Amino acid sequence: MRSIEVCLAERSYPILVGSGLLAGCEPLRALAAGRQVAIVTDDTVGPLYAGALSAGLGGACATLLTVTLPAGESNKTWDSLNRVFDALLQARFDRGCLIIALGGGVVGDMAGFAAAVYQRGVDFVQVPTTLLAQVDSSVGGKTAINHPAGKNMIGAFHQPRLVLADLDTLRTLPARELSAGLAEVIKHGAIADPVYLDAIDRDMDALRACEQRAMGEAIVRSCQIKADVVARDEREGGVRAILNFGHTFGHAIEAGFGFGQWLHGEAVGAGMVQAADLSCRLGLLARPDAKHLAAIIARAGLPVTAPPWSFERWIELMSVDKKAEQGAPRFVVLEGIGRASLRRVPDAMLRETLAASPDR
Ligand code: NAD
Ligand code: GLY
Repeated sequence: MRSIEVCLAERSYPILVGSGLLAGCEPLRALAAGRQVAIVTDDTVGPLYAGALSAGLGGACATLLTVTLPAGESNKTWDSLNRVFDALLQARFDRGCLIIALGGGVVGDMAGFAAAVYQRGVDFVQVPTTLLAQVDSSVGGKTAINHPAGKNMIGAFHQPRLVLADLDTLRTLPARELSAGLAEVIKHGAIADPVYLDAIDRDMDALRACEQRAMGEAIVRSCQIKADVVARDEREGGVRAILNFGHTFGHAIEAGFGFGQWLHGEAVGAGMVQAADLSCRLGLLARPDAKHLAAIIARAGLPVTAPPWSFERWIELMSVDKKAEQGAPRFVVLEGIGRASLRRVPDAMLRETLAASPDR
């Protein structure tokens, strides 16, 4: 088992990465001991892993409740969130309770948001079961639901007390979901660590085959990169924005098609190709580096071509983004592989990027 610390003073917590963690993890049992505990999961993950997690808690909790939500991005809504509050209130859970998010990023973001606001805030633990959630969404305390107008528009910062990434859960993950998770893995290499990006490129076949060595290394390195950025800027006043590389375009794609059509990671994959193209047009990134990045994204099984929408449609979608300033979108661009920054860009350049595509 490997442990990575997210250093946030009194809100610090460990990310534990390993095998067999669901079946028995002492730090989780210790957190749950004597408390009212709710496992929040979805109707795909619950039947697979809620039993093992409950057994792993080993009777440590005073009460154990399981709340099962409908799976998928289209259910990251007020209605689903309310089901959590209904169940907690019905079971008379008090402010000392503990919520455990068991699932992918959708469950993690919703259960985390529920924990942020239930009785003004209760403890929660992330038990991510998708690659995307293990390398990204379970770390850093961003929690949210979608609004039909925009992605993750309603939410809060609320750090978990512990993150438990059990590699064994990835064995049941469909290949399409695994590829979606690789988008965030590639993102971490692209924005922060060229050596890591080379390793991802070299290990791509092993990663797509979900080989434990390659997966374990990628999860640990991605978590280190994310933990470092979050420790420097917990609430995204500055540097944390770089974790949104590809996301201004990606969130627009998700919202534009309707949540759940393109997976988040797929939209980020195509969005990173666009953001790299924009970086080249700004004179910040060499064209061969952008092409190399696009090739890695394609090898991960991700789309590299964004939808052929009009400039006006893109602007309409991208203006509903948390990085936008007074309705004008901002973009994370690469200043070479491994260095990123957030900027406004001239419309003319943006038009060129939106018209350009590896396939058109
Ligand atoms: P997801 O949670 O929808 O999970 C994908 C699908 O896989 C679901 O159908 C789920 O039921 C299923 N699944 C999960 N684990 C499984 C397993 N082990 N075996 C079989 N099936 C399994 O999607 P995701 O890609 O994990 O997360 C995407 C979400 O994460 C988006 O809403 C995105 O906005 C959010 N996100 C948040 C942050 C953050 O910092 N909070 C960062 C990145 C992404
Ligand atoms: N996924 C972006 C962030 O956590 O800041």
